[in-house]
Amino acid sequence: EKGGFDYFMLKEIAEQPQAIADTLLGRLTEHGEIRLDEVRLTDQDLRDVDKIFIVACGTSYHAGLVAKYAIEHWTRIPCEVELASEFRYRDPVLDRSTLVVAISQSGETMDTLMALRHAKDQKARVLAICNTNGSTIPRESDAVLYTHGGPEIAVASTKAFLTQVVACYLIGLHLAQVRGIKYADEVGAVVAQLQEMPDKLRALLDRMDPVRALARDLASAGTVLFIGRHVGYPVALEGALKLKELAYMHAEGFAAGELKHGPISLIDHGTPVVCVVPSPAGRGMLHDKIVSNIQEVRARGARTIVIAEDGDEAVLPYADHVISVPRTPTLLAPLVTTVPLQVLACEIAAARGHDVDQPRNLAKSVTVE
Ligand code: M6R
Repeated sequence: EKGGFDYFMLKEIAEQPQAIADTLLGRLTEHGEIRLDEVRLTDQDLRDVDKIFIVACGTSYHAGLVAKYAIEHWTRIPCEVELASEFRYRDPVLDRSTLVVAISQSGETMDTLMALRHAKDQKARVLAICNTNGSTIPRESDAVLYTHGGPEIAVASTKAFLTQVVACYLIGLHLAQVRGIKYADEVGAVVAQLQEMPDKLRALLDRMDPVRALARDLASAGTVLFIGRHVGYPVALEGALKLKELAYMHAEGFAAGELKHGPISLIDHGTPVVCVVPSPAGRGMLHDKIVSNIQEVRARGARTIVIAEDGDEAVLPYADHVISVPRTPTLLAPLVTTVPLQVLACEIAAARGHDVDQPRNLAKSVTVE
């Protein structure tokens, strides 16, 4: 049933290209339009939205953090992302024109369910992004967009994360089209890039051997730090969560710009720092800034593991290890940069002799608050 893989997690990592293809299926037209008829919110409902809250837990929360960058850029609607377990305890400002997006693989996470009930009590509209047909969260929501990832058995979420991110892109692009805002003309190009994603991921998965070798090498490290900027920041958080959850190691993700405000003190001789680097072709100074962050940590003794785009030569002088990923526009990059971090955590956990699919103290769906 593991399809020849040692763990469900490895099988599910390998299923990601298909999971993305399935999540896109029937939702993109050949004219570069997004069709989300199943969502059952009218175009007028979507035009009335003046604020978006995304609520979720764990890895699904990280998908929401990625989504914020894309949704705000494409739609110009303010979008906040909040841990579901915090949301209802702080009296968030919600009304009829607020769209609350609840992201959950299982559809049964109690923290997320309670957050959505609170949002509904305040008259907000709730849209679920969910992988499990007929589960409680979509049943209680006003609308649902299913991720078609197929069953996810391993406790660690992998294909669910990638498909949640894709679902959020679809919602952002759809909102941009319906509202006809300035960035609507970017939609066609992004749709084409999304359609290329399954093939890109297949190619990426074929070159994970160096990541496996690196994992064996890092298995005895005391701590591993992850840094990123922009959408690379939630990817860093996700890489660290996977390592904590599976390998029981101390791991932390940071916004690279925050290092100098405290965490850089953690860096000692040989501390592994995984650096998530955006495309050099991307906007602004993002790429240059993270290259200087890599320089800074290396100057303090860090062992740098750099996830960078194919052909990115600027990182080479400061990288102890380079893991290259296919060229991808900045906003979509988490779909590729997350994959080596999933493999890394899985292989480190296996090298340390842990049960990869059933880490201690954890359950696949967390049905208590
Ligand atoms: O089913 P959900 O997406 O609501 O689950 C949320 C989290 O419990 C889940 O993503 C958890 O963080 C994963 N085990 C992380 O790999």
